Amino acid sequence: MSIIFNQNTKTFLLSTPNSSYAVKILENGYLLNLHYGAKLNTTALDELYVRYGSASFCPVMPSGELPGWFSQDLAALEYSSCGRGDFRTNAMQLRRADGTSVSDLRYVNHEIIAGKYSLPRLPATYANTDDEADTLKIFAKDVSSGADITLYYGVFANRDAITRAVSVTNTTDKPIEIEKLASCCVTFNRDDLDMTSFWGHWAKERTPERRPLPHGVSCVGSKRGSSSHYQNPFVILSENEASETAGEAWGFSLVWSGNWLFEADLESHGTVRAVMGVNPTDFGWHLEAGETFYAPEVVMAYSPSGIGELSRTYHKLYRYNLCRGKWRNIERPILINNWEATYMDFNEEKLLSIAKEASELGIEMFVLDDGWFGKRNDDTTSNGDWYVNREKLPDGIDGLAKKIRGLGMRFGLWFEPETVCPISELYRAHPDWILHVPDVAPSLARSEYILDMSRADVCDYIYNVMAETIRSADIDYIKWDFNRNLSEVGSAALEPKRQKEVSFRFVLGTYDVLQRLLDEFPDLLIEGCSGGGGRFDPGMLYYTPQIWTSDDTDAIERIDIQYGTSFVYPPSSMSAHVSASPNHQTGRSSSMKTRGNVAMGGAFGYELDLTQLSQEDKNAIREQVKDYHRFYNVVQNGDYYRLINPYSNRHFCAWEYVSPDKSEVLVTFVVMRWTFRAVKFVKLFGLDGDAVYEDENGKTYSGQVLMSAGLNLSGGYRDGDSIRIYLKKK
Ligand code: DGJ
Repeated sequence: MSIIFNQNTKTFLLSTPNSSYAVKILENGYLLNLHYGAKLNTTALDELYVRYGSASFCPVMPSGELPGWFSQDLAALEYSSCGRGDFRTNAMQLRRADGTSVSDLRYVNHEIIAGKYSLPRLPATYANTDDEADTLKIFAKDVSSGADITLYYGVFANRDAITRAVSVTNTTDKPIEIEKLASCCVTFNRDDLDMTSFWGHWAKERTPERRPLPHGVSCVGSKRGSSSHYQNPFVILSENEASETAGEAWGFSLVWSGNWLFEADLESHGTVRAVMGVNPTDFGWHLEAGETFYAPEVVMAYSPSGIGELSRTYHKLYRYNLCRGKWRNIERPILINNWEATYMDFNEEKLLSIAKEASELGIEMFVLDDGWFGKRNDDTTSNGDWYVNREKLPDGIDGLAKKIRGLGMRFGLWFEPETVCPISELYRAHPDWILHVPDVAPSLARSEYILDMSRADVCDYIYNVMAETIRSADIDYIKWDFNRNLSEVGSAALEPKRQKEVSFRFVLGTYDVLQRLLDEFPDLLIEGCSGGGGRFDPGMLYYTPQIWTSDDTDAIERIDIQYGTSFVYPPSSMSAHVSASPNHQTGRSSSMKTRGNVAMGGAFGYELDLTQLSQEDKNAIREQVKDYHRFYNVVQNGDYYRLINPYSNRHFCAWEYVSPDKSEVLVTFVVMRWTFRAVKFVKLFGLDGDAVYEDENGKTYSGQVLMSAGLNLSGGYRDGDSIRIYLKKK
């Protein structure tokens, strides 16, 4: 059991292979966070909290009720509330029916059970067997509002990850307004932490940015209605000195695809409080008597040995304890997507000519992207009208799918389910089905409105229309796109007191439709997408085991984007395609070899007009297809190591995969921007030091030398060159 409760010390100790998390119940019922970090071997941890209540201006609790030293402002509260003298950023704010919002959380009892909790209607990590994880539920009462609060902890036995979630049940007879309900609150008794977050925008997602925490609250988040291109819902706190391979690091990753907020409060007494959850801006939940609200899960991970190890923990957890279904374990098909080949200008003949070429090259699935429905010849019309355009596809989706099957390939189709164009039959029939606010003209983005996914009738419609198409044809794969952020967030179906729930309910509606599709079509592979990687988050990964990483398909740019993405998301989740050269986004030319080497770092595919390629490029594709199958195990199931940081070294980048049994190694090295460098060695990691490895030309290497002195990559490279070294244990 990875969770211990010591009745004498009233301390919970949650342990993973290399980390511990400790919580103490004080005699007054307050819960204190004693520790999150290196593994501890005792529950006698009373020296880990501060008994000093007389700091100036800090209110102390009424005498008699509490020890004289207790001040909320100095206590490492396990789940901080508000209004009783804790002035740091808080985790919870509830408003009582009388309009006030003082909360006071006290322990009631707890439950420790084998297996991992799940959360109704919300994605969450899971245990494959009950011995993979244990659950602690701490039941507490807000003695001020009367609400019951449950704190959930999932502790993975073989991964250094601890999950958190929270629910509130209104056990009173009056309504309670939830104004903030974060999913976790953790206190670090130190002030020497760096924060790394991942900013971006369209075509430039997940750029790592690290800075020492200043005093005050440092926060990142999204108010865009989706997790967003702009900041990813993942943050690392690390010791100032921590590197890729050394030092303590903690990760916070929210399993949620909507608005979110991470706050790190370095307060003046020298502690850091980290709080993460749904963004309280424009959020609220009206909780009637008897109702329960669940906040989404945060996955926390810890590494005592650098940020690289933290990433590998997330990779394994998300690959095997978050992604689900048939496609979690089996080899994903190499696909050809027609978007950058034809955009919306295609007919069946053109599509089949690309598919025929693809099948001859060994590509396994054809994906028809945007433009197949309604009157969609550009992006101004037709989203919502999900019936086939027979002018382009006279035999319909079914006819096309059959012809693609006839070529020995699988078939996939694009949808953008959550939006509708004003020029569409759906909008004309149901103008009130969009998110909108009375008397305010709804904004357009990419000529789209947002469908009100908080409404059950809208979700039913979307589910039915998608399911009908999937039933009508042999469809193996769906690309689920979403090309704008939310504005005028109001719903015609909700009463005024529930309008603050709309953005949260919107995400629940999307999750519901995804789940219903997976229930009916369990073998369907759904790829997530949002104008590239605008909704690349663990919430989506629960339904869509791969996500289109970015609309920037340029190989050199993709190195940055895939590097940033790798801090938390596994290679198997990063959809990556070889596209045309010169690249459509950047105009840069790159060799087929480099485009292939970079795209092979993810869920692999092509996105270009294969009928226009030279024989040499086609031969290169044949080899890449073989390599993808050869390297599948090491890339998709292996351990991933970042060897050269492309942001600090603008010239070179290198990364490495090592198979779980250390018998296979794949190193990729790319010259991103040429510089003369006669000598180049790169140290490898994770090998068997006692083993001898052999490359594809029969040259042998000592595992110990590769890790201690490095792999000799010296050579006369040209701009954009790349090399790939595949080593096998002899
Ligand atoms: C945005 C996606 O990221 C692209 O791959 C493509 O599907 C377009 N949308 C189609 O409109």
